[in-house]
Amino acid sequence: MADKREIEPGIEQDFSNQMSYGDYLRLDLLLSAQQPQSDPPQHDELLFIVQHQTSELWLKLMVHELRSARSLLATDDLSPALKRLARVKHIQRVLTDQWSVLATLTPSEYAEIRPFLATSSGFQSAQYREVEFLLGNKDADMVRVFKHDAAVRDELSTLLNEPSLYDEFLAYLSRRGYAVPEDVLTRDVTRQHAASPELVEVFAQVYAAPSEHWGVYETCEELVDVEDNFQQWRFRHLQVVQRTIGHKIGTGGSSGVDFLRRALDLTFFPELFEVRTRIGG
Ligand code: HEM
Repeated sequence: MADKREIEPGIEQDFSNQMSYGDYLRLDLLLSAQQPQSDPPQHDELLFIVQHQTSELWLKLMVHELRSARSLLATDDLSPALKRLARVKHIQRVLTDQWSVLATLTPSEYAEIRPFLATSSGFQSAQYREVEFLLGNKDADMVRVFKHDAAVRDELSTLLNEPSLYDEFLAYLSRRGYAVPEDVLTRDVTRQHAASPELVEVFAQVYAAPSEHWGVYETCEELVDVEDNFQQWRFRHLQVVQRTIGHKIGTGGSSGVDFLRRALDLTFFPELFEVRTRIGG
């Protein structure tokens, strides 16, 4: 057994005139963006900041993938769109699993940081709202939260006014000859999609004969996975909040756990869940 691994002669070691790992990734910026506010400094604040910042990075990638999936559906490129959704599902898994790191923060440790968070809250996460809007949970009231930041507000407002991923999937289905109702295709996309009984019929036909509708069937199941994963993230957030602050109000001013629990009733793709009651007689 060697007790030392020699650096091979070919390995780059001088970056005075060429790009290094840190240069490419702008680690100067990234690793100086953790600015704890607590005074005197609290050991656990770094965990709190890193957990949120890593979540935001993954949300950034998720927005990127969802936007692409939506464009691909708009041009009838179903297989590449599914590839995007496969990646989205892995990102969601990471986001959900990483709650276990924050769950090591005890209520006493959080209480030491809480005063320094002031009114900041994940409720004000623009990228989280972008993901919700892309998936179809549209809510114009959410845009107002960002009126202090014109660039973010405009970005979100643009997404509010664009079709969601589900809208594009339904338009794709219609182009393929499926009987998607006209009022669904021409709906006001700034609002949450309202469940359509006629659309449940369309999906009932797909689920009755999967092999005849394979691409569509597969996409339906991918969307169900995405919603399922999203709900698991919401639920883990709720659990971590409950074990950390109990029933105290949130830094953003909501009732806390009760407010978060109501989000579990929201659904992006109502017909894809409704159709399940119909399968198999
Ligand atoms: C101990 C840590 C945490 C606590 C105690 C907590 C608490 C809360 C509470 C009480 C709310 C409701 C709004 C409010 O009144 O503030 C909320 C919303 C939210 N939080 Fe957290 N949170 C924590 C960590 C995180 C992390 C790490 C993220 C990751 C980005 C996050 C993202 C969100 C989002 C996106 C919402 C809005 C959810 C919705 O509108 O349904 N939270 N949080």
